[in-house]
Amino acid sequence: MNENMENRTEREEMPERRHGFHRGGKDRHGEGHDRHHGERHGEHREGHDRPHRGDKFLNVKNLWVEYTAGKRVVHAVNGISFSLRKGESLGVVGESGCGKSTIAKAILRILPDHGARIAGGEMWFKGKNLVDLSEAEMEKIRGAEISMIFQDPMTALNPVKRILDQVASVIRLHNEGMTKKASEAIAIDMLKTVGINEDRVREYPHQFSGGMQQRVEVAIGLSCHPDLLLADEPTTALDVTIQAQVLDLIHDLMEQRGTTLILITHNLGIVAEMCDHVAVVYGGEIVEYGTKREVFKNPSHPYTIGLFGAVPSMASDGERLKPVEGVMPDPSDLPAGCKFHTRCPYATEACKDGKVPVVDLGGTHRCQCHHIEEVRAKREKEAATV
Ligand SMILES: Nc1ncnc2c1ncn2[C@@H]1O[C@H](COP(=O)(O)OP(=O)(O)OP(=O)(O)O)[C@@H](O)[C@H]1O
Ligand code: SF4
Ligand SMILES: [Mg+2]
Repeated sequence: MNENMENRTEREEMPERRHGFHRGGKDRHGEGHDRHHGERHGEHREGHDRPHRGDKFLNVKNLWVEYTAGKRVVHAVNGISFSLRKGESLGVVGESGCGKSTIAKAILRILPDHGARIAGGEMWFKGKNLVDLSEAEMEKIRGAEISMIFQDPMTALNPVKRILDQVASVIRLHNEGMTKKASEAIAIDMLKTVGINEDRVREYPHQFSGGMQQRVEVAIGLSCHPDLLLADEPTTALDVTIQAQVLDLIHDLMEQRGTTLILITHNLGIVAEMCDHVAVVYGGEIVEYGTKREVFKNPSHPYTIGLFGAVPSMASDGERLKPVEGVMPDPSDLPAGCKFHTRCPYATEACKDGKVPVVDLGGTHRCQCHHIEEVRAKREKEAATV
């Protein structure tokens, strides 16, 4: 999303307490409604439904990130803006390589030291611009205030440290004065909750399967009780039962502590269950943004429509994003104009050059496209014939 596409208006409500995404994104009304859907934007009564929800506390403004490898510059994130209030949740979707993990790593400031740089923008978190903070200041924020569940657990876990030590040391780090014994007891409990039995906790990461490693990652991410949780494909390698438990844990954290969530996932059912806003990312830009209801009910960007399938639904029952015909352009050689024009069935000459307008579709809903009206008319016609 460009800067002017930022979510400026009111948020929608949080989804219902869930007992497993496999319920298909339906809330307890069974219709995929957002809770209190009768309330209009701006009419929400602050603080009545959950603790700690207040003013926006994460404000990402016109963020640019690039990687350099020799002469090749990868334009991974290209002018993304969004903001979240405390307790809100944003689902970030888009196909592989579109820049999702880079956004999360930039916020946590854990981009590789060499060859990666934040090329522009601001990231305001609780009144501080993370871009300007020193490494020592960021160290204090990581874990305690912002934590991340990594997409690839093996890169995040220490291969020479036992699982229990890794989880317990994170707990001690954020609970000054806590004894080793006490932290281990909490760690064992947390690991049990993510389905790892006590008899395995003294093993090393390489002795665990990919799914088990991912659960350790989740346990570490949640043990910190962060204000902001960046969950990068947190359930991809897990079976359905454990996925549901992990999502419940994340949801509990949000309920009890007002944790704000950025959830990166390929699974629409999880977005429908967990998130109140959705950002659709393509070529390092947010091409469509809105509340879950706005985007699922009324997908407007040709890429979103392709990704969600012809007739998207909040009751998508764990469905994964659909492949869109063609491939995403190489981010080191992005096309001019709309980055989607090489694959878009609606593309015209106007799409191939210059700035693409950001269309305000009401509420928080924004879409970056030249031909919104034509796209919508066609989608509605197709939906009517299904
Ligand atoms: N350390 C790096 N050096 C060079 N290029 C990188 C590096 N990390 C990521 N990239 C490139 O940046 C782009 C965005 O990568 P990113 O990992 O953010 O994508 P993603 O949307 O998370 O993809 P996936 O869904 O596969 O996880 C990709 O083209 C990727 O190859
Ligand atoms: S701007 Fe043009 S190419 Fe891009 S999504 Fe819209 S219609 Fe397609
Ligand atoms: Mg990724």
